[in-house]
Parts: sequence; structure tokens; C-alpha cells
Amino acid sequence: MKIFTSKHELSGYLETLKEKGRTIGFVPTMGALHQGHLSLIEIAARNTDHVVCSIFVNPTQFNDPKDLEKYPRPIDADIAKLEQVDCDILFLPTVQEMYSGDEKWSIDLGYLERILEGRFRPGHYQGVTQIVKKLFDVVQPNKAFFGQKDYQQVKVIMKLVELYSLPVEIVMCPILREEDGLAMSSRNIHLSPSERNEALALSESLRRTRENYSMKQIAELQIEAVNFLHSSEGVELEYFEICNAETLLPAESKEEPGLVALVAAKVGHTRLIDNIIIK
Ligand code: PAJ
Repeated sequence: MKIFTSKHELSGYLETLKEKGRTIGFVPTMGALHQGHLSLIEIAARNTDHVVCSIFVNPTQFNDPKDLEKYPRPIDADIAKLEQVDCDILFLPTVQEMYSGDEKWSIDLGYLERILEGRFRPGHYQGVTQIVKKLFDVVQPNKAFFGQKDYQQVKVIMKLVELYSLPVEIVMCPILREEDGLAMSSRNIHLSPSERNEALALSESLRRTRENYSMKQIAELQIEAVNFLHSSEGVELEYFEICNAETLLPAESKEEPGLVALVAAKVGHTRLIDNIIIK
């Protein structure tokens, strides 16, 4: 695996591959890699000739400085994991390499950045789109792979691609879970054993919602899930919503073509998100 820290050197190298007609798959991450991240790389390797993974803990998408500070950065372990899968190139830039001083620009994401995650993490999606735009400019991938784990993020990236008419295909990949249902996340390492157990309420609420879907109305499913989460010890619920899978606006009826249930909650000091496609 080749490792680059300079934008210029990476884009020069990728240019030589593109001249030979090779396709580039891109998996952006913030590191602390787990099987969920590695599954994106495996999917990318099956769909493109060369896979680029980036590891960059992007300061502009953290609204809580403490969260940024405590974000895990086990870079040697990450490199060892990437060596085990079909990752050809790792891009590992510094903050200075990606942000030149006092940049102020924003992207018109419309209501998408004000709902769900956006409501609880103001400015988060501006930070995400800024860094993904910059990374896309360097890598210029044919396809970029994102996890359904961050469902709203996928929709935001699709909006970015549409706004700038970027020639990249966005591929959404399934959520990898632990055996007991907990969605894999870099943040799970912050959970104590008892919090780890309490965190199962999130995936359980989603599982129940999908299981009961055919028997109940949307409003009923929503109320039951909220009640279940409120009564789950150690869980501080932020939202549980059943939404139109395309627009992410609250679902009005079962007639909508696609439905997704999304949940966010704090367990101890750790904020977790999860979702399930119901239909
Ligand atoms: P990060 O949280 O490191 O996630 C990188 C990618 O891995 C995202 O596309 C995310 O959805 C995916 N992922 C995380 N957990 C997963 C799981 N359990 N199963 C499958 N995929 C999973 O998302 C980000 O970083 C950043 O916002 C980024 C896009 C890199 C911009 O900074």
C-alpha cells in the first residue's frame, strides 16, 4: 500500500493510473478503523481498479471541541488493518494540508442540514461537505463509497455532487453490526461494559419497528419506539424518526415509496446513531 501525505503527490500519482484507463474507488474515513470501514474498502475493490482510503479527522465537522480532542487516532493499527484488505493507496494529510488558514465558505444544503443530525449538530454537514469536496478534488474518483450507517450523510453528499455536477458515482454500502446488533462505530470504544449493553436499545428499537411495520400505523410505530427508548436505562434519546427514504422528511403514510427509521441518542457521554431501511 502506498501512503501519501501531500495532495499534490497523490493527485500526480493518480493521474498516471487514470492515463492508463484505470478506475479509482474512494473511501473517505476519519480512522479508528473497524470492520464497517473495511467492508467499504472491500466493496470498492470489487467495483473499481484502485482503491484510495483517506484518514483525516476533520476538525470543521466537530461542533464539540471535546469530541474532536478525544476522537481516537490509532494510526499504526489502522495502517496494519488497511494492509490486510485490498487498499492500494492511503491518503493521510495534516490539517494544514487540507485547510489553508482562515477559510470561510458554505454550501447551500437547504433543509437537509437543519433536520435530524443537523438539528443536534449545527454546522456539522457544512464541515462534512467542505472536506469531502476537497478530498474529491484531489482524488477525482470514479466512485466513492459511503456507509448507510450515516444515512443522512449519504444524502448530503449526493446533494453536494448534484450542486457541483461532480462526475462521481456515490455508492451506499450496508451497515455492519456486532453479533448482538450494535452498529459498528469508532465511538463504541468509549462505552463501558454496562453502557455497551444499554446501547443495544438503539438497534433493538429499529429492529422492533421493522418487525411491527406490517401490523401498525407509522404514528403508532414511532410512539412505541420513543417510549421504548425513553424507558431504556442509560439512554438519553435525541430523536427517533420514521422518514421518507429519499427526502428524509417525516413519513406521512405507508404509501411513500421508501421508508427509513433513524435514531440518535447519548449513552453515557457517547453519542450514537443508527438507522434501518424499513421499506
Ligand atoms: P467515519 O465516521 O470514519 O466513517 C467513514 C465511513 O465509514 C462513512 O461512510 C461511514 O458511514 C462508514 N461506516 C461507519 N460505520 C459503519 C458501519 N458500521 N458499517 C458500514 N459503514 C460504516 O463519516 C465519516 O467518517 C466522515 O464524516 C467523512 C465522510 C470521512 C468526512 O470527514
